[in-house]
Amino acid sequence: MTVDHTFWDKAAPKYAQQPISDMGAYEETLARTISYLRPETRLLELGCGTGGTALRLAPHVHSVVATDFSAGMIAQAYDRPQADNVSFLKADVFSPELEAGVFDVIVGFNLFHLVEDPRSAYARIHDLLTPNGLFISKTPCIGERSLGWKFGLLRRAIPILQLLGKAPFVRYETITGLEHDITAAGFRIVETGNYPVRPPSHFVVAHKV
Ligand SMILES: C[S@@+](CC[C@H](N)C(=O)[O-])C[C@H]1O[C@@H](n2cnc3c(N)ncnc32)[C@H](O)[C@@H]1O
Repeated sequence: MTVDHTFWDKAAPKYAQQPISDMGAYEETLARTISYLRPETRLLELGCGTGGTALRLAPHVHSVVATDFSAGMIAQAYDRPQADNVSFLKADVFSPELEAGVFDVIVGFNLFHLVEDPRSAYARIHDLLTPNGLFISKTPCIGERSLGWKFGLLRRAIPILQLLGKAPFVRYETITGLEHDITAAGFRIVETGNYPVRPPSHFVVAHKV
């Protein structure tokens, strides 16, 4: 993951204050994720942001390593009341501190549309998981057609916003492309959903094979 983290470092204090935009979709994502967790699960979160999700998942697992490539986001995560079994770490999926073959479940929410080379990321996730480990992700698929003219306008504005430093790197992911890349990295998809449905934020649970 080679993308510049400056945008996210700057955004972190405001991000920490923002309410979750669709609480129903968030709770559905958490409930589906928790259904796959066990008291002995060693969980890795990628792109954890300000840490709220890691702290919500913590009571359902043995331990959580919650990572983000933005030092600003990790600083915000440490500002929250902590849990004994959660550690926050400034890292991306390729960081050598992350040991291969030790995580039972790896989650990444609202992240992979921001990653330049998702195929390499999925391959590395495959390596980081234990045999039969689970990869659970949710990815906005803003490359889907039929998102309407407002999205069309936003899409045209994004390069300008990026030049001004007001938008991060983003990929126009599609549901088919996402599922193809995850499967090609050596996973079998066992559950999918869209939370929310429009624009689709595609939830995928995939077994390492
Ligand atoms: C949209 S936020 C999502 C945060 C959190 N997962 C959530 O659902 O609220 C994206 C997060 O991913 C991190 N991020 C963005 N691009 C990344 C990359 N290429 N590698 C690692 N982390 C990245 C950002 O720093 C940010 O905290």
